[in-house]
This record gives sequence, structure tokens and C-alpha cells, in this order.
Amino acid sequence: MEAVIGRAQSRWARVGPYYAMFPMDYVGEVIGAHTSPGDAVLDPFAGRFSAPAVASYMGRIGCGVEISPLGWLYGKIKLAPAQRSGDVLRRLRDMRDAASGYKSEAAHLDEFFQMCYCKDVRRFLLACRDLLKWKKSTVDATLMAAIMVVLHHGIGRGLSNQMRQAKAMAPRYSVNWWKSRGMEKPPQVDAAKFLSDRINRRYKHGVFCYKESKALLGDSCKVLASTEAETWQKTNGGVKLLFTSPPYWSLVNYFKDQWLRLWMLGCAPSPAVRAHAYEKGFYSKDEYRRLIETVFDRCAQMMRKDGVVVVRMDARQFTRQTVLGALDKSFPGHKKAGKLAVTKGRTQTVLFNNGGAKIPGERDIVLVPA
Ligand SMILES: C[S@@+](CC[C@H](N)C(=O)[O-])C[C@H]1O[C@@H](n2cnc3c(N)ncnc32)[C@H](O)[C@@H]1O
Repeated sequence: MEAVIGRAQSRWARVGPYYAMFPMDYVGEVIGAHTSPGDAVLDPFAGRFSAPAVASYMGRIGCGVEISPLGWLYGKIKLAPAQRSGDVLRRLRDMRDAASGYKSEAAHLDEFFQMCYCKDVRRFLLACRDLLKWKKSTVDATLMAAIMVVLHHGIGRGLSNQMRQAKAMAPRYSVNWWKSRGMEKPPQVDAAKFLSDRINRRYKHGVFCYKESKALLGDSCKVLASTEAETWQKTNGGVKLLFTSPPYWSLVNYFKDQWLRLWMLGCAPSPAVRAHAYEKGFYSKDEYRRLIETVFDRCAQMMRKDGVVVVRMDARQFTRQTVLGALDKSFPGHKKAGKLAVTKGRTQTVLFNNGGAKIPGERDIVLVPA
């Protein structure tokens, strides 16, 4: 991958533990096969922005829409991180200095947080949560994204007590797990030192800025109809490649699995069920169908006549039929290129499955103009 997208870019391309993400090599292959430099690539369910970012790194113009602030944050800094590491490190020092003002709040966090983080890390995280303006400032977004990567991980690899990196387990489960192993005491970590090493490593081979590419935050049903999306599409002569993987109905809850990172971004300090409006789409079949149909319909209006559609979808019957039905309706002038391929190897499902459930994996569909 490094040979295709450059060394600096490859340092940033994988930023962001997320769920159900595209394997990077697959992204490069699809973009290389269906677009040329200068073409516009759209992903309306961008996740951690693998498709818009790699498209940009390959000389295309990417646009992604993501409803989760976490995915959007990863996307923002993959397209245009802070241009000077010194600015990010300065902001990191500000946070380190501000942490002492959060002693009382840190002491009052619940049992999960007391076992997960040592007191200095708790204070530091609360300062960052309160003071970083990550939606507005690129420097703050870059620092916040660096924190997201190491917020929970194995001991010594992140800021937390022993945790998985991709997915945050529920608070009670984690507490019981630590207790049953005598691991109630969190590791001592110097958060500022830990992060400054990571930030220096990230900037080691340089930086980039893809001004024409876009990371848009919000519900694709609305965002794709906005002036900002329309301007992006017109400026770039229409979308050549629609490349996406829609949410998997009822299988993955992108809010619950990322509750701890979302807490850092201002959400509730627990994975409350249906805490976020967009979760509804993952439970109600009608809502799910409406989402998929509305989004593909809007995307079809943004496409060039010679545009290609590549969709990787969950292979279970309801999701697959909903997606295929929506594509048939929105792209009547397109035909399937080849048979519906069963994806092999490290697919999203393989990457995020706990190993227990029998999940049939993914299907890829490619539609080309008839
Ligand atoms: C299967 S994941 C995409 C993963 C992505 N291909 C990657 O490589 O990271 C589907 C994504 O759709 C997002 N999503 C769900 N509903 C959405 C909506 N209404 N508008 C925009 N994004 C949405 C979810 O938050 C999730 O990140």
C-alpha cells in the first residue's frame, strides 16, 4: 500500500480503531480499478474514511459523510491534519498543564473510570474532553484523534487498564473482568509523554493537505442534499465512483461499541441503549430501508453518466435484499459487472467478529453503466 499512496500518507491512512472497516488494500484496488486521477469518489457511510482518504492519497478527490463524530474526526485529520506537529505538541502541553484543575471531577468518576485509568490520566482526559475544540480547530482535532487511538488498548500500548482497542466493552463487564483477574489497579501512564511520542512518530515522514476532498458530519439523508455536498459534486464534475459499505442492520451498533471514545467527544459516560438518534436505524427494518433507499437515491443524482458503483454489504438476507433493492431502484441504467462476489480473507466481518456468532460475511457488488 505504501508504494501506491506514499510514506507520509500510509502513516495516517490506518488512523482510527473502528468497527466494520474496509481492509486498506481492498480500498486501493477498487479505486485503482475504477477511477483515474482527478475523479471524484463518494462514500456516504464513510466510517473511518478509508475510501475518501485513500482516494485523495491516490490523486482523486474524496468525499465522505459519516454520522458518528468519531468516524468524522478520523476522516477530518486523514484528509487535512494540523500542518505542524509543533502546534499539536504545544496544545498537548496546554492540556497537561490544565489537568490539575480537574482533580475533583476525576475523583468523582465512577468505578469503571477509577479502574480503567490512573488519576493523572483521568485528569488529563477530563481536561481534553472539556477544552479541546475538535470540531472547529484542526490542531485540536489532530490531538483528539491521537488520543482516540490510544484511549483503550492493551496495558503499555495505550492509556488504559487492559482493554481491547477496537471496541470498548461495557463498564460492568470490564470492572468484573479486571476484578476476576486482580487487575483493579490501573497502570501508571504519563499521558503527555506517551502521546508526544506517538505524535512525533505520526509526523515522521511528513504531512499533506487535500483541500478539495471533504469530510462531512451528519446523516447522509440530509447532508447529501446540502449546499456543501452539492457544491463539492458540481466543482468536481460529478461522482465517478460511489464506493461504500452501508451499516449492517442490527448486527453492529456503532454507538455502543465506541461508547468510551464517544464519551471523550462529549457523549454520556456509559453505552446507554438508544442514546443517540441514529441508533434507531439499526433496529427498525422500516427505518433501515428508508435510510438505504434515500441515500442511494441521492447518490445516483450526484453521479456522472459513466459512474461506477461498488458496494460491500452484509450478506445476511434482509440487509442484502434491502441494499440490492435500493440499488436496482436508484441505478436502473446500470448492470452488474460479473457475479455477486463472496468476499474472502480479512473482511469487515472477520475483522470485527468475536469469533462466536456465525455470520455469513460480506458480498461485493459492482454496477457499471449498461
Ligand atoms: C460498515 S460502516 C462503514 C465502514 C467504512 N467502510 C470504513 O472503512 O471505515 C457503516 C458506517 O455508516 C455510518 N452511518 C450509519 N447511518 C448513517 C447515516 N444516516 N449517515 C451517515 N453515516 C451513517 C455508521 O456510523 C458506520 O460508520
